[in-house]
Amino acid sequence: MLAKIFLELTEFAWFRRVAWRPIYNRLAKQFPFDDWVFMNYGFEPDEPASRPDLSESDEPDRYPLQLYHFLATQTDLEGKTVLEVGSGRGGGASYIARYLKPKEIIGMDIADHAVAFAGKRHQSPNLRYVAGNAESIPFEDDRFDVVINVESSHAYGSVANFFAEVKRVLKPGGYFLITDMRDPKNITPFEQTLLGSGLALVSQKVISPNVVKAIELEDDLKRARIRRQIPARYVKFFEEFGGVKGSQIDKDLRGGSLVYFWYVLRK
Ligand SMILES: C[S@@+](CC[C@H](N)C(=O)[O-])C[C@H]1O[C@@H](n2cnc3c(N)ncnc32)[C@H](O)[C@@H]1O
Repeated sequence: MLAKIFLELTEFAWFRRVAWRPIYNRLAKQFPFDDWVFMNYGFEPDEPASRPDLSESDEPDRYPLQLYHFLATQTDLEGKTVLEVGSGRGGGASYIARYLKPKEIIGMDIADHAVAFAGKRHQSPNLRYVAGNAESIPFEDDRFDVVINVESSHAYGSVANFFAEVKRVLKPGGYFLITDMRDPKNITPFEQTLLGSGLALVSQKVISPNVVKAIELEDDLKRARIRRQIPARYVKFFEEFGGVKGSQIDKDLRGGSLVYFWYVLRK
């Protein structure tokens, strides 16, 4: 019942603006586990042969990391300046910094405890994390070659404000890579807002089947992790929040009442 009320309230911009930050801050503060560095539902490619090679220490994060890999490799990041908006616990920016060799990547998130966690947990000479709001990005105009955004935009008060900020901080010719999910009735308005920002569409893809496949393949590992680390009274919440097989998110993505997508755009 409470979950249903929460979800209904997330239809309102004012609620999204006040609700998400304390939740992600609390998660970072109360559960500062070093091996929990991603907060997305993952991705499995259509062609298993195209999976990236990973070090042994990155292997347990294969599926959430692959969501970053396959989105980020829609353009070449080598030698580029990259901003990640909504970097969470920092695993995605760290993967990009270490494997895709940008000159610089900055992970930005509104939850300052998650930013502090990420800064302590991940070290690479071309990587840092800062606190900041997607609706008011704390960087100058024309600063970045690429902005990447993974499973975060659903939490923003106004995606129109966010897209205007992305356009402002991108260099001319720079790329915007975004992946997230929406109720199908909200996809057209989302896309109209995205294209109304003045960024040009390069490509788009519905990736719900790839996310569902990742949920399936990661299930045993995810459940084992939750049971090992989380006090019994929170296990149910984490199984839902983490999207185990049979969770509401899994059912909605399978049944089509949620659509997971990515878009590649250019300034
Ligand atoms: C589901 S998590 C995804 C984190 C990360 N992208 C990943 O895939 O692991 C969503 C993240 O968006 C962040 N977020 C929510 N609203 C934000 C805003 N207005 N500006 C920046 N970050 C925000 C949250 O704090 C959270 O860390």
